[in-house]
Amino acid sequence: MARTFRPTCAEIRLSAVRNNLNKLRAAAAPARLLFVVKANAYGHGAVELARLAESGGLAWGFGVSCVEEGLALREAGIKSPVLVLGSLYPFESFVEAINAGMIVTIASLDAARQVIEASRRAGKKAECHIKLETGMGRIGARKPAVLKIYDELSASGAVSAAGLYTHFSSADTDPEYTRRQLAIFRETAAELEQRGARLLLHAANSCAAMGYPEARLDLVRCGIAAYGLAEGFEPAMELKTRVVFVKNVREGAFISYNKTFRADRPMTVATLPAGYGDGYLRRFSNRADVLIGGRRCRVLGNVTMDMTMADVTAVRDVSVGSEAVLLGRQGGEEITAAELADIAGTITYEIVTLITARVPRVYTP
Ligand SMILES: Cc1ncc(COP(=O)(O)O)c(C=O)c1O
Repeated sequence: MARTFRPTCAEIRLSAVRNNLNKLRAAAAPARLLFVVKANAYGHGAVELARLAESGGLAWGFGVSCVEEGLALREAGIKSPVLVLGSLYPFESFVEAINAGMIVTIASLDAARQVIEASRRAGKKAECHIKLETGMGRIGARKPAVLKIYDELSASGAVSAAGLYTHFSSADTDPEYTRRQLAIFRETAAELEQRGARLLLHAANSCAAMGYPEARLDLVRCGIAAYGLAEGFEPAMELKTRVVFVKNVREGAFISYNKTFRADRPMTVATLPAGYGDGYLRRFSNRADVLIGGRRCRVLGNVTMDMTMADVTAVRDVSVGSEAVLLGRQGGEEITAAELADIAGTITYEIVTLITARVPRVYTP
């Protein structure tokens, strides 16, 4: 890794991830856990967390969004099953996925035919999970197409149809809709079983794995709870930096671009070396707090690409080098991802996933 000097970093507590995975496993058993590590494990570092899970026997396998993410795991020596959750395109990427021993998602008859051909070209039997559309409206085939996909894959002898899955759109907000999705899924799974299919069945994301016992099936596919951003789990990521500049300003002084903040009294202002170039959103301008000296300090003016200013008037002994927490705990205070998500009008997933590659991930035990 490149040498780093800038104090801005995302600290990932491995014990939190371990505890969260164990909690999910215990809740879901006998269903096994597919740990969703797509998008660099929602910003937490896919390779490191997959290693943690694999070496500790904490997951059956891993979910990624694309072949590139799966290859990164394989190149890091991850041996467990890797399911590519996305619908692959261009179809040549099937060959890469098959060669690297990934399980591919088949969501259309066209993709089924392509994977059969790719398997023959790779000279290796591909493994796939068929994706059923039950109400998410993203990718997936409806029941008649799924039955046809299964029949064609089986008849080909080139591809093993090893699983059937679907995805809930609203497990956190609409139980009735979720149960309807599950009923459609069960009905299709039953028809496939009547045809002699032996499939791994899965549907539940974190919320459904915890809240809908009937949806646990053979596997649960969990991301957000493993990162501690669901109720009852431990947040794993903290975003930290250090003060690089402190100044006293007079009443009437403006702070940052476009003069959106004007001091209404003499103030002490700290500058932090983190901004939207690190994934600390511009939406936090004048609205979010950071923690310095164990106290909440309001962000002053617009967040800039690389720097953010904060009001430290009430904080004693602030100097260059003082720790600032943008997400996480300091003293008795905490800035949660949910708080930042509320300010930005988004969800916690986005807050952590948008932490950019320039921010070093530091792993603590
Ligand atoms: C297909 C699929 N399964 C499972 C998950 C994991 O969901 P969650 O992070 O809510 O547990 C996702 C994430 O969005 C997904 O796209």
